[in-house]
Amino acid sequence: MKSKSKQTENMKYTHSICFSTGFAGYILALGALSAYNEKKRLSTFLPNRGQFKGANLSMKLIVFSPTGGTHRVAVQLAQSLGGVGQTIDLCCADADFSAVSFCADDQCIVAVPAFAGRVPAIAVTRLRQIQGHGAAAILVAVYGNRAFEDTLVELHDVLTEQGFQCVAGVGAIAEHSIARQYGAGRPNAKDLEQLTAFAQQIADKLARHDHSAPALPGNRPYRPYAPSPMHPQTDAEQCTNCGTCARACPVGAIPLDAPQQTLETCISCMRCIRVCPEQARALPAALLAGITQKLQPVCSQPKQNELFL
Ligand SMILES: Cc1cc2nc3c(=O)[nH]c(=O)nc-3n(C[C@H](O)[C@H](O)[C@H](O)COP(=O)(O)O)c2cc1C
Ligand code: SF4
Ligand code: SF4
Repeated sequence: MKSKSKQTENMKYTHSICFSTGFAGYILALGALSAYNEKKRLSTFLPNRGQFKGANLSMKLIVFSPTGGTHRVAVQLAQSLGGVGQTIDLCCADADFSAVSFCADDQCIVAVPAFAGRVPAIAVTRLRQIQGHGAAAILVAVYGNRAFEDTLVELHDVLTEQGFQCVAGVGAIAEHSIARQYGAGRPNAKDLEQLTAFAQQIADKLARHDHSAPALPGNRPYRPYAPSPMHPQTDAEQCTNCGTCARACPVGAIPLDAPQQTLETCISCMRCIRVCPEQARALPAALLAGITQKLQPVCSQPKQNELFL
């Protein structure tokens, strides 16, 4: 049972602008990824804003996307469902996520990559600070053409505990952020078309005010969370000490005054490799070759995007 003060708080949310944050600093446009020229690449595929019945004016995005693939998928879905509203960037290392809350009128897309078949642990920690207050959530697990395993059920459980109503799940493929030849070029034009079709079905469900829980694949208890540590290294001769990698790291694992170092807190997300303008950061070549070879049997055949309602 809710306490009286909690009820009053919820009413306040319902009757005021629903989405709220304590400060605007982390309603971010995932600026560190602008180098990908994502907008330009996506513009070819974007449908009209809010073209489907049941689509809200704008979707709130809650996204953990170190190298941009998850963000692309989330944006495609959001554009078809009413356009992109505020974005909460779960990669932001110094944000106070406890200041973020929603209300029952809000519709959110919550998108994460699969890391070893699970939600990345740091994304769980940050999601556990956000309050849903009955907001509808569309869950998205983006993966590198191997498998997303327990990612959607774990995301469902975390969000339900935080007060969201989970109404749909999507498993979508993007380039593998470690071994980039797997899922290369995905989401491609066909994927984006398919995501638009998924959005239509989700919009239909929302239009019926059907907030029933989707049947999601995955196991409870979840598989053990054990991503192998893969810490990028810096080529000191290439590095110009610009600090881009240190500022972009989701967990502050690169000292700003010594970007040649990688601390043990690194979560192996590969973002620093992607944002470095000098291509000075990389995984050790032998390690990357070994991972690529190991993934070959399970990543080579193209997988399909999936919708769960
Ligand atoms: C540490 C780590 C673990 C990963 N584990 C999986 C996995 O279990 N299955 C899979 O298909 N892809 C896996 N991937 C690939 C990512 O899920 C995929 O590339 C995703 O698009 C990355 O999202 P981003 O581009 O938003 O960073 C992993 C990537 C990383 C960095
Ligand atoms: S982004 Fe690249 S060049 Fe800049 S500090 Fe980091 S490693 Fe050095
Ligand atoms: S140092 Fe580790 S955690 Fe930080 S951006 Fe690079 S790979 Fe990600």
